[in-house]
Amino acid sequence: MTPPTTPVRTPLPPSALPGLDLSDPATHARHDLSEIWRTLRAEDPVHLHRPAGGGPAFWVVTRFADATEVYRAPDRFTSARGNVLASLLQGGDSASGVMAAVTDGPRHRELRRVLLKAFSPRALTGVVEKVEKAGHDLVAAAVGRPECDFAEDVAGHLPLKAICDLLDVPEQDRAFLLRLTRTALSSDGPDQSPFDVWQARNDILAYFGELATSRRERPGTDAVSVLATAETEGRPLTMDEVVANCYSLILGGDETSRLSMIGAVLAFIEHPAQWRAFKNGEVSVDAAVDEVLRWTTPALHFGRTATADTLLNGVSIASGDIVTVWNASANRDESAFTDPDRFDLGRMPNKHLSFGHGPHYCVGAYLGRAEIAGLLKALREQVDRMELTGRPEPIYSSMLSGFSSLPVRLVA
Ligand code: HEM
Repeated sequence: MTPPTTPVRTPLPPSALPGLDLSDPATHARHDLSEIWRTLRAEDPVHLHRPAGGGPAFWVVTRFADATEVYRAPDRFTSARGNVLASLLQGGDSASGVMAAVTDGPRHRELRRVLLKAFSPRALTGVVEKVEKAGHDLVAAAVGRPECDFAEDVAGHLPLKAICDLLDVPEQDRAFLLRLTRTALSSDGPDQSPFDVWQARNDILAYFGELATSRRERPGTDAVSVLATAETEGRPLTMDEVVANCYSLILGGDETSRLSMIGAVLAFIEHPAQWRAFKNGEVSVDAAVDEVLRWTTPALHFGRTATADTLLNGVSIASGDIVTVWNASANRDESAFTDPDRFDLGRMPNKHLSFGHGPHYCVGAYLGRAEIAGLLKALREQVDRMELTGRPEPIYSSMLSGFSSLPVRLVA
């Protein structure tokens, strides 16, 4: 088949903004908003967005410097009432005060300290080795086939495997858990039944409840055991806290890493000279990983709630207002990155916001980077050329960005 031309999303002019709803997954699945972000950064960097079709207004922060100011100041901009538009617009997050990502202040610091223990270098060494080997084997199986769906056949297997290794989920439970997380989390399309999603989430929480109970009795060195046996302020975590934070590792680490791997291959196909430079060893794997993260920006936005009346870049924000930070725009801010619309694998420095910034900075950043690095090394060693053989399918989400399907041929 003739390879389709990308982009698969239609570019929209800045004049289209008043007709859009940035909280609607369809907006991001169908449209390329680069021009809108560029204009907002230049003319209205702290913009009050009134979604077309009604719904509460929210602030849209598009510049790198303003984004870091919001991320750095949980006392002014809290995560405790939700950290993504989906929960913020519904008035809060039920895991608030229990799950680190939606908790602030001293309790957040305690929960985060426990989570970081679960990511100790000792816990991670085996996980990283195994995920690198899995990446190598999956690429080997895909190379030479007339076509594969890189999203499904390669990237789809890696991050969840790493998280299951980190949590030491027994082998026999993994297919079951994979099915549940696909239903609970997937942003693949608009037609998920809300009941199935709710049911799958409950089943995951119940599964981790049982696992954590048994690990509390017979702890190992895995992340579930770390959480189940941790003490904060002189008492063990409640079972709700253990379960919610186990779940947050899947929530935070599966789709994000997967989308950056899929986006990396598409970027290599669209920028063959950069792929050649990487293949020939002209750029380091570490630098390439960071540029892949900046370029793909899997987490489009994160959100906060203003705790009091405050000023951001001279704009008055009222207590209780929803403030969204668009990483997708901040990572292309011309005042923070030279030539930001160039995919440049050797880019240095590259202080992107793909893992966030400040006190909620991604606890899985080391693992996420290691997973992507493993995959890039596997591609470099085994693949000479990559070709698109079908149309990439954008995911359906206002929070995450990337592709759920990427039909390609990998040529040795
Ligand atoms: C936090 C992105 C991988 C677990 C975050 C935040 C971002 C992010 C932007 C900040 C959220 C905020 O400020 O509200 C990513 C990306 C990844 C990735 C792009 C991969 C490419 C992972 C992995 C895990 C993970 C592999 C775990 C296995 C978490 C958790 C938090 C978090 C638990 C909350 C930390 C806190 O609130 O203190 N991530 N992440 N992430 N991430 Fe990741």
